[in-house]
Amino acid sequence: MPLPIDHPSHALSESPYLRACRRLQVSHVPVWFQRQAGRSLPEYRAIRGEGSILDAIEDSSLAAEITMQPVRRYGVDAAILFSDIVVPVNAVGFTIDVVPGVGPTASQPFRRKADLQRLRNLEPPVDTPYVLETVKELVRNLDVPLIGFAGAPFTVASYLIEGQPSRTHAKTKSLMHSEPGVWHDLMSRLTDIAVASMRSQVLAGASAVQLFDSWAGALSATDYKNFVFPHSQRVFDELADLEVPRAHFGLGTAEILSLMSEAGADVVGADWRVPIDEVRRRVGSEKAVQGNLDPALCLSDWPVVEKQARAILQAAGGLPGHIFNLGHGVLPETDPAILEMLVALVHNEGLQLGSSPS
Ligand code: CP3
Repeated sequence: MPLPIDHPSHALSESPYLRACRRLQVSHVPVWFQRQAGRSLPEYRAIRGEGSILDAIEDSSLAAEITMQPVRRYGVDAAILFSDIVVPVNAVGFTIDVVPGVGPTASQPFRRKADLQRLRNLEPPVDTPYVLETVKELVRNLDVPLIGFAGAPFTVASYLIEGQPSRTHAKTKSLMHSEPGVWHDLMSRLTDIAVASMRSQVLAGASAVQLFDSWAGALSATDYKNFVFPHSQRVFDELADLEVPRAHFGLGTAEILSLMSEAGADVVGADWRVPIDEVRRRVGSEKAVQGNLDPALCLSDWPVVEKQARAILQAAGGLPGHIFNLGHGVLPETDPAILEMLVALVHNEGLQLGSSPS
């Protein structure tokens, strides 16, 4: 069902971010940063407090303020909801916290078929009313589009199964191959949860959604295709009627970019390992691309950052359908002044650099 006429996405349809998602000409190259809200900002550290991030997320006015901070400071072209990929699963009762400096941690990880019962359907107005409150408060105050999001079934499954961040994803891969029936049931439930969560964010006022499959690059293309692709594809299918741009991001996805693109998003985000013109080639001409400056380089002095950013803008060629971003989240050690200069460079010279010979 298309969105009501008074949905914020209509009023913002001419914004550079939403136009770029649809591969339309833009007045400047739009830019936002994954993890633009967070510990790199002194104003975030000042109000975030010591508790679990999940408590901060439950406080709608705090979460809305944190979401706005980078928009105010950097003048980025989109806001991303301050929340986390584990919020919906935690809300339906599969207890998982986010330990500062570590990441999502479950004391009772997913081990067997019986654990499926711990994942009932998500009813956003009942289970995560505070998320919807935050979205509503934000869209009353923002003059740029708000991006809603969810963790992709695979990346959320990996946290539930491992119980903590993992380098090898060994338990996840083991369950996938040794108990494919349980695996697909788990993925199917996580698909329903991701769809319910993103749908509710859009209905509350978000103008776009991004599915974070951060760890999908840990899989071979064959495993991705057999064990992950059908579920991520269903996520995008089930959001198609909303007619808002749908983005898809993962890290280390060079080998699976074309498959990720086939899953159905409108925008494909990539990390720094593949040059942006090659990303475009792999995802096909029907998609917008997002990326892809290495966030580690943002810890260097401005001339280093500037050189890399210019190279990305040149490679993007000033063609419609490029959203500038980092290849992963802003690192906490990043100097916000560097990101401020980066936004100015992308806005002021992005299109021009794209059309100049490299
Ligand atoms: O500005 C934004 O991008 C908005 C909000 C956002 C957060 N998490 C806030 C957050 C988003 C989109 C996420 C998604 C998320 N969470 C992902 C997918 C994106 C990615 O980074 O690949 C993943 C894998 C997670 C899981 C997660 N949450 C990790 C690995 C961590 C880091 C642990 C740490 O403390 O170093 C978190 C915590 C988290 N989520 C923070 C923020 C701002 C950091 C610190 C805090 O507790 O204040």
